[in-house]
Parts: sequence; structure tokens; C-alpha cells
Amino acid sequence: MALTIYLSLFFLCLYLLGLILRRVLFLRHKVRMERQSRLGGRVIARVDEMQPGSVRKFWLICQKYRVDGFLINYQGKFHAYINRCRHMTTPLDFVRYQFFTEDGRHLICMTHGAIYAPDSGLCVDGPCKGLSLYRLPVLVDQGEVLVACPSGDLSFLAD
Ligand code: FES
Repeated sequence: MALTIYLSLFFLCLYLLGLILRRVLFLRHKVRMERQSRLGGRVIARVDEMQPGSVRKFWLICQKYRVDGFLINYQGKFHAYINRCRHMTTPLDFVRYQFFTEDGRHLICMTHGAIYAPDSGLCVDGPCKGLSLYRLPVLVDQGEVLVACPSGDLSFLAD
């Protein structure tokens, strides 16, 4: 009986410690993001670092959520999306750091092969056809690419 109580207390302490660590990390990321932000967006890359076809993963702190996203240069224009497939809540590059199809014309989710248009985020083929990736606002300023948080209700990120 006593052993059960001690074990329960031990796991409760571990759980609480995990919550505290998670909160501390969140606040550190929030401070870091504020330091790296201007004009309402976080600096993600220099323009000259991102040639057409390149991808840069990043995170943002938006409201009370950490948002994992990716920035692409598609045919000379920058687009950013939340890294979450519209079929299931997995990142597009679930297996490896790969976002584009081999011919570079589309984005692909590596889990079940959903195909997205890089310039709109629209799923054009696969299990989520007709839905779109969640777009993030992109701004180019002083040779740098900045990405901002989406506006509106972000509670879907809690799923
Ligand atoms: S999770 Fe992306 S296609 Fe199924």
C-alpha cells in the first residue's frame, strides 16, 4: 500500500516537473522570438540564403501556442505554412527533411502522399484534396524574410 502511494507521488512529481519545464521552455522561446522580430514578424532567413526550391523550418510563438512552420522559395517567391498536413496532424516532412516532390513542382506530405500547390497551399491530390495548408504571412524587408503569426482563433493548434 505504502509503495503504491510513494510511486503515485513520484509520478505526480515527474508530471509536474514536466509541466514546469515545458512552461520555462515556452517562455524562453517567446523572449527569443521577441528579440528576433520586427514589423510584426520573426526573421527566418536572409533572402540570399534561400534559392528557389529551398526550404527553411522554423517555429513561432503565437498567442499561447508554439507554431512549427516552413518557409519555401517557390519560383522566386516566398511562402510560409504551418507544418501540419490537412489529412492528419502530422508534419509534412514526417520521415525526413523533404517538402518538395522530386520534380520540385509540388509540396508533398511524406506520410500518405498528399500533394499541395506550393504557391497557394491547396491540396490538389491525395486524402485531403480541396483543403489548404494554413498559410503564414510573409514579409521581405532589408534583405531578410520575416514570417508572422496568423490572425484569428488558433485553438485548432491545440489538437
Ligand atoms: S498525414 Fe499527410 S497525407 Fe496523410
